Amino acid sequence: MMDVVTPAVLLTDGVVALRRPALVDGPAYSRMRNDLALVSSVMGFRLGVSEQTIEAWIARGGVEGDDLLFTAVLVADSHRPVGYVKMYRVDRFSRHAWVGLSLFDERDAGAGYGRRILTQACDYLRDFVAIRKISLEVLATNARALALYAALGFAEEGRLTSQFFTGGRFEDVLILSRFLADAPR
Ligand SMILES: CC(C)(COP(=O)(O)OP(=O)(O)OC[C@H]1O[C@@H](n2cnc3c(N)ncnc32)[C@H](O)[C@@H]1OP(=O)(O)O)[C@@H](O)C(=O)NCCC(=O)NCCS
Repeated sequence: MMDVVTPAVLLTDGVVALRRPALVDGPAYSRMRNDLALVSSVMGFRLGVSEQTIEAWIARGGVEGDDLLFTAVLVADSHRPVGYVKMYRVDRFSRHAWVGLSLFDERDAGAGYGRRILTQACDYLRDFVAIRKISLEVLATNARALALYAALGFAEEGRLTSQFFTGGRFEDVLILSRFLADAPR
């Protein structure tokens, strides 16, 4: 019989797999969305989100229009949700998209999962959606995220000075981009 609760894996590198969000992911998204430190690091909504809101959002696919959202799960850990990657404002004319990602739990950080999630998302966007360039926004103080983006070839394209208020102070926000194909010379 088909498993109607958990969607099939779309992509995997053997350690981390990406699939569409499912209701079973609700608790993981819920914990993350109500963790002020985590939502601040992704510059997200900081008023808290109820479980019902999350479930309704997952039931709608977690996205609108041409946006894409994948839950990342750990293959060897009973497909435990470990994070997500969102590809939004997907512009099929300019073949550009914005990307955002986060782990659900700080305890999973530094184990290479972020690198695996973003690598698979980039490959997918290049090879299956024909995206040419991706961009993302990151707090200038987010050393771990910046290390990951630099390692994957993202370059700084802009700085929004004193843009985002978190932890009692205004932080700069950097715009980073990476060409997945047809980089200009
Ligand atoms: C940012 C985030 C996605 C990175 O994922 P991760 O799984 O923790 O990172 P990885 O283990 O894949 O490490 C990525 C790189 O950063 C380096 N790194 C790890 N911890 C670091 C730290 N504290 N400071 C600097 N570099 C660090 C690693 O050495 C690695 O580089 P390498 O592959 O060249 O060795 C994850 O930590 C996260 O979700 N953080 C909270 C939300 C967030 O900040 N999201 C990004 C918003 S723009």
